[in-house]
Amino acid sequence: MEYGKRPETMARITTKELADTFIAEQVAEIREQVGDKKVLLALSGGVDSSVVAALLIKAIGKQLVCVHVNHGLMRKGESEQVIEVFGKELDANLVYIDATDRFLDLLAGVSEPEKKRKIIGGEFIKVFDEEASKLEGISFLAQGTIYPDILESDGVKAHHNVGGLPEDMKMELVEPVKYLYKDEVRVVGEALGLPHGMVYRQPFPGPGLGVRCLGAITRDRLHALREADAILREEFDKNGLAGKVWQYFIAVPDMKSVGVKDGKRYEGWPAIIRAVNTTDAMSATIEEIPYALLHHITDRITHEVDGINRVLLDLTPKPIGTIEWE
Ligand code: XMP
Repeated sequence: MEYGKRPETMARITTKELADTFIAEQVAEIREQVGDKKVLLALSGGVDSSVVAALLIKAIGKQLVCVHVNHGLMRKGESEQVIEVFGKELDANLVYIDATDRFLDLLAGVSEPEKKRKIIGGEFIKVFDEEASKLEGISFLAQGTIYPDILESDGVKAHHNVGGLPEDMKMELVEPVKYLYKDEVRVVGEALGLPHGMVYRQPFPGPGLGVRCLGAITRDRLHALREADAILREEFDKNGLAGKVWQYFIAVPDMKSVGVKDGKRYEGWPAIIRAVNTTDAMSATIEEIPYALLHHITDRITHEVDGINRVLLDLTPKPIGTIEWE
């Protein structure tokens, strides 16, 4: 795919006014390109695909078919938000597929990180392909490609993109934000009326919680991870860290330690907090979370999450630790 360059005359989109102009131009271009045909979009709920969906809904309404595949490795509430925002508020043509069992069954007993990623990526394509083949008269495929993806297409993100679609899916592409940088995509998303939390959400790897539920994934440990992660996010939100820290999450290793709960021996997994700052994800530094907040988060996670009996803090910058554990 030849993408060309961002036009040098194109001003950086930093305000609502500039975003509105961009939106009006794109709406006209999309209508021109698509005519009365149908467009398919894999909607992950991430910033880029969400903004593309909102833009296409504005331009062509129900001619857009959004497919959201829940691989069972989403953070708490994410698939629900996609259904709420796109299915209900924006009244989109949304196909929701809960493929949790398919993914978790395939992943059962698989502990090797690269193998886990391959399974998740491969199955994603399969599920999406199956759904696409059930739909009739689709002529275009929309994608949330952004300019850094083009610039780095032979770099890190290429192998990262789990949402990557099959080569033989022969449809013309619609990529309305392909010359935008991430910050511009966010300004456009807000101008389109998407919720702030969706537009400014932190990056989330395609394989999702699959690379944070370390080793062979089990449903009970995945559940504990999701709940602990939701508490961390809630506390970062409440304490003004959500908008400040680049990426923060919990990882739960496949090991237990001894503890005591309600006067009885209680074996549980540790929840590891990772909170990092970076500009390009190539290197990262550690956010210094106030100790009082760490104590509070520890207290909540150990009391509210079944199966967790310790909370640990990862102090390792990148390098030498990667941001994700797997
Ligand atoms: P690492 O762990 O390599 O992560 O330091 C750098 C950034 O990339 C994200 N990441 C991924 N993103 N699919 C993605 O879309 C992936 O498979 C993937 N693996 C890591 C990671 O969350 C961090 O922001």
